[in-house]
Amino acid sequence: MRLQREVTIALVVILSLSVRLKAQLQVGFYANTCPQAEFIVRSEVQRALSGNAGLGAGLVRMHFHDCFVRGCDGSVLIDSTSSNTAEKDSPINNPSLRGFEVIDNAKTRLEAACSGVVSCADILAFAARDSVAWTGGFRYQVPAGRRDGRVSLSSDTFTNLPGPSLGVSQLTQSFANKGLTQDEMVTLSGAHTLGRSHCTSFSNRLYSFNSTVSQDPTLDPTYAAFLKRQCPQGSNDTSLVVPMDPGSPTRFDASYYNNIIANRGLFTSDQSLGSDSGTSSQVRANAFNGGLWKSKFSQAMVKMGKIGVLTGSDGEIRKNCRVIN
Ligand code: HEM
Ligand SMILES: *[C@@H]1O[C@H](CO)[C@@H](O)[C@H](O)[C@H]1NC(C)=O
Ligand SMILES: *[C@@H]1O[C@H](CO)[C@@H](O)[C@H](O)[C@H]1NC(C)=O
Repeated sequence: MRLQREVTIALVVILSLSVRLKAQLQVGFYANTCPQAEFIVRSEVQRALSGNAGLGAGLVRMHFHDCFVRGCDGSVLIDSTSSNTAEKDSPINNPSLRGFEVIDNAKTRLEAACSGVVSCADILAFAARDSVAWTGGFRYQVPAGRRDGRVSLSSDTFTNLPGPSLGVSQLTQSFANKGLTQDEMVTLSGAHTLGRSHCTSFSNRLYSFNSTVSQDPTLDPTYAAFLKRQCPQGSNDTSLVVPMDPGSPTRFDASYYNNIIANRGLFTSDQSLGSDSGTSSQVRANAFNGGLWKSKFSQAMVKMGKIGVLTGSDGEIRKNCRVIN
């Protein structure tokens, strides 16, 4: 009887321990199995960004789009096949998402150094961190041990990724659906201090705001005129882009929040953060104290990087980040 009880207790302890371990990502996850992993990713990111600093923005956004769709499982990296349109070919991601070749290059070197060990999802999480650090944000430690997912559906992007015309309550709901707070939503939106946008993502604010007013009255008129020159009405050129933070598009600084205060937030989603009573004080605080914002950003990235992860023996370690094994 007693023995049986002790065995049962021992089993329960082992089971709950393994459940707990399975769920945890760990800093230094590859210390024994592939000690050079983070160094290799970093060197590939640095090489790529030295040639094209804009790829830093691409990699930060790619990690966000990975994590919000089926968790941070590298599903955004999978190529479409004849029978499946993958996430990366949703109009939300194609043609705007960029930096895939940086991940490919890192993966090629990692497979040569330690075959079948480092997941594509972790490579992307490291690469986003290295991009933040390279452009002037704070370097943070990335808990790792993610496994790669085996499903990638274009249709998943529409329901999981927030769009640029959303207001504060919808944005807050979208992030809450992923376990992130409104505060973290405002903090992470500051990533729009980097990179560019296609005209198509905001041209409604310039030309077709609503049935009576063509231009969004909340947009600074001088900035609107500047945007109209770069995004002519009725242009057929879908490749036209503008920097989201024109003063410093490759610098990870708090100017995103200063832009909002000056009514120069590019998207409705950006500008709405400045006028909502629940978020405007945080916009001002982040604009005022860039160091505080950067440290909050790093913490929020770590939290975002834990959304819906596969661990333990779930999923797989892809050999080629574009193809399910
Ligand atoms: C809050 C809701 C968000 C919305 C509605 C949103 C929407 C967008 C849109 C429409 C673009 C431009 C795409 C294009 O037309 O080229 C963009 C770009 C970008 N987004 Fe967001 N985003 C949001 C949050 C985030 C978050 C949380 C991050 C990362 C932590 C992020 C990082 C970026 C970056 C870095 C770019 C520039 C990409 C490049 O230059 O290649 N965004 N976003
Ligand atoms: C269009 O937007 C303007 C400015 O925000 C507003 O005053 C007006 O009521 C809106 N018209 C419609 C039809 O929604
Ligand atoms: C867009 O393309 C159509 C058809 O090719 C053409 O008729 C039209 O003039 C073009 N518009 C602009 C603004 O270039």
